[in-house]
Amino acid sequence: MLTAPTPVDAEAERLFRLLLNVDCEPGRTWNFEACRRIAPLTLEINRLKQEKDAVILAHSYVEPEIIYGVADFKGDSYFLSLKAREARAKTIVFAGVVFMAETAKILSPAATVLVPDRGSGCSLADSLTGDQLRELKAAYPDAAVVCYINSTAEVKAESDVCVTSGNVHHIIAHLPQRRILFVPDRLMGQNVRDELKRRGVDKEIITSDGTCIVHDVFDATAVADARARFPGLKVVAHPECTPEVAAAADYVGSTGGMMNYVRTTAAPYFLMLTECGLVGRLQVEDPEKRFIGGCRLCPYMKMNSLEKIRAALVAPHPEQIITLDEDIRHRALRSIERMFELAPKD
Ligand code: 13P
Ligand code: SF4
Repeated sequence: MLTAPTPVDAEAERLFRLLLNVDCEPGRTWNFEACRRIAPLTLEINRLKQEKDAVILAHSYVEPEIIYGVADFKGDSYFLSLKAREARAKTIVFAGVVFMAETAKILSPAATVLVPDRGSGCSLADSLTGDQLRELKAAYPDAAVVCYINSTAEVKAESDVCVTSGNVHHIIAHLPQRRILFVPDRLMGQNVRDELKRRGVDKEIITSDGTCIVHDVFDATAVADARARFPGLKVVAHPECTPEVAAAADYVGSTGGMMNYVRTTAAPYFLMLTECGLVGRLQVEDPEKRFIGGCRLCPYMKMNSLEKIRAALVAPHPEQIITLDEDIRHRALRSIERMFELAPKD
């Protein structure tokens, strides 16, 4: 006699259908047993979300069991900041890194904003303090101060406008000042300068010295080798890569832009010069596409886990709760709201 599947079996089946093409380690994809192991946890987290009136926002770089198991919204930094601003839930759990959770708190101060692991920093955000930015501003008093969203709340509070990788060109091109103090990503600043020059926009871009430890190590000679081995290959890069890598790529853009490019481009193979989580999302959502290795792991994004999300929802540790000085939050909000005003509307 046939028996109805248990809720755990049904959840394992749902997860397996989504994850079956995703690499869980090089050369090995998810199997049913692995989905069966996590199913009780995703069921429990989804129940806790309802009980506690919580939403989970997940950046595309976190583990696929978080993105497809429990997230309410998944995407790039810009999309998730819009979702944080719209959220009406009592609690927002941000599966990403601390600066993203801080941004959610700036935008939704009435919500309790939780970060699964307080150690999930970011080499860019951690590269520049508010004091250091104040010194730079004193050296370039006529410059417009533009901060990449990968920055602390204090750096945002000292900036005229915040940007993300998806709107940085548009926003800088439309600022009245010719001189721009762009922090904290030196490589993105160089890439923006090159791209704006190509578009006929003349800006002087001064940068601080941060880089992303995941993207700054991709290498343009490896791109040339890959093209020789895989004819027809399309190379897709994030603007946190070096200018040499950006010049060698077919497409450079935000994580959302990169996903869009792959979905809308016919090619036999893609090389994704970014965090491996993005390849996982494409393996779920565009399973026909083929990816050659080469992506890298962000150790901070990978600090997120289902277990830590459950612990935060059950009884958050004080370290998991984002708190901000109200004056800093207020000033940081101005630079983020200016981004929403100036960003292209599409
Ligand atoms: P996106 O804004 O493109 O999602 O990038 C965030 C990030 O941290 C890239 O390393
Ligand atoms: Fe920061 Fe780089 Fe990780 Fe993105 S990938 S969160 S920029 S360290």
